[in-house]
Amino acid sequence: MRSLCKKIQEKAVVLGDDLLKVDTFLNQQVDTALMEEMGKAFADHFRHENITKVVTIESSGIPPAYAAAVRLHVPMVFIKKNTPTTMVDPLHVQVYSFTKKKHYILCLERGLIKPGDRILFIDDFLANGEAFKAAESLIEKEGASIAGVGICIEKSFQAGRQYIKDKGYSFLPLASIKSLKNGQVLWEDD
Ligand code: G4P
Repeated sequence: MRSLCKKIQEKAVVLGDDLLKVDTFLNQQVDTALMEEMGKAFADHFRHENITKVVTIESSGIPPAYAAAVRLHVPMVFIKKNTPTTMVDPLHVQVYSFTKKKHYILCLERGLIKPGDRILFIDDFLANGEAFKAAESLIEKEGASIAGVGICIEKSFQAGRQYIKDKGYSFLPLASIKSLKNGQVLWEDD
């Protein structure tokens, strides 16, 4: 998506060979017009997949997932990284975070995702795909299936992309980065 790539070129900061800082428009401050545009791109692409729910992981996946869900006229569910005391029957899965170099728990209240749901999974980044695999396992435990995967920024030099392709999921990355070496963003289609 041209406007996202332009925003990355203008505002993102490359941190080492595998990390991109996008706090000014996606990870902390949120560019609402860009979220609307990304939501529209996801909704248009997956419109004929009979999506029944959009699912993401808190926190930065929420704005683009919400924007897509509004356009698809379906609920948006976000998987949590803690277990609130209000949760009655939580499902848990452990994930290893490549950015934080530690394990954390993802948590979903049982029953929000239902057997037969066709899920559009949306997230801000795809790196090694560990968060995606954990979300996938929660979705499958609930008897639902993934009908599409929408990612704002994928780093195609990390393992997540291959996992998603190997599983045969319908996949839409809006910006595909093939390298962050030497402080430079190189695009997959460069
Ligand atoms: P993986 O699931 O793809 O293997 O990677 P990882 O465990 O590291 O992804 C989990 C977190 O790391 C996610 O955010 C993801 O968005 C973020 N992430 C991965 N690569 C990058 C990157 O190059 N730049 C930035 N800014 N984030 C990256 P999170 O920690 O859950 O944070 P948030 O969603 O609460 O903002």
